[in-house]
Amino acid sequence: MGYEVAEGPEVEKDYYNFEALNLPKGHPARDMQDSFYITEDILLRTHTSPVQARTMEAKEGRPFRIICPGKVYRRDNDDATHSHQFTQIEGLVVGEGIRMSDLKGTLDLFAKKMFGEDREIRLRPSYFPFTEPSVEMDISCFKCGGSGCNVCKGTGWIEILGAGMVHPNVLRMGGYDPETVSGFAFGMGPERIAMLKYGIDDIRHFYTDDIRFIAQFHRAES
Ligand code: DAH
Repeated sequence: MGYEVAEGPEVEKDYYNFEALNLPKGHPARDMQDSFYITEDILLRTHTSPVQARTMEAKEGRPFRIICPGKVYRRDNDDATHSHQFTQIEGLVVGEGIRMSDLKGTLDLFAKKMFGEDREIRLRPSYFPFTEPSVEMDISCFKCGGSGCNVCKGTGWIEILGAGMVHPNVLRMGGYDPETVSGFAFGMGPERIAMLKYGIDDIRHFYTDDIRFIAQFHRAES
């Protein structure tokens, strides 16, 4: 689909992790992501979204599509569903005429490839400072097909990722004119997706190197 892989540093500037993503100092949404600060202006990145801001800067106004995989850090207590270090995969498409329907079509294709051809998606209104409008994507439950079970907690739907249309402020700070250029973005946690897909009950299995866990998975040849 024409995406290139982009990466950024794990030790990141406050500017890219927050400010350039429409989260100025003092913004209440900063509290959604408890951060490990190294100095006042440098922290361990709390998400892969700073790669959005860095890439926009580097592309100097040209259109692009990127996927950004990488490690992220949060000041969370480790338990079955939280880890102080985990991974995310971010997507960003910027160019003329990029529409919400492009985002929806892209997410629908991803859901079907990842969880099966008969999966349906639903977008719920949500809030992220760097997108407007913002959505959360659910997939129809791959275990019960929507009738309700333990995997989907009886709702028929499973929350998979956050996404939206890139906020005009974010485009502007990245050197793009929101009057002529638009974009969509999405971000997801591969551990959560793998936990759902393979029925893994504890995120710590990914990091504690138990060979009995690791040996169940094989790297797909590309
Ligand atoms: N950065 C968000 C988080 O870590 C996830 C996210 C949501 C990324 C929406 C996006 C997006 O690119 O459009 O919670």
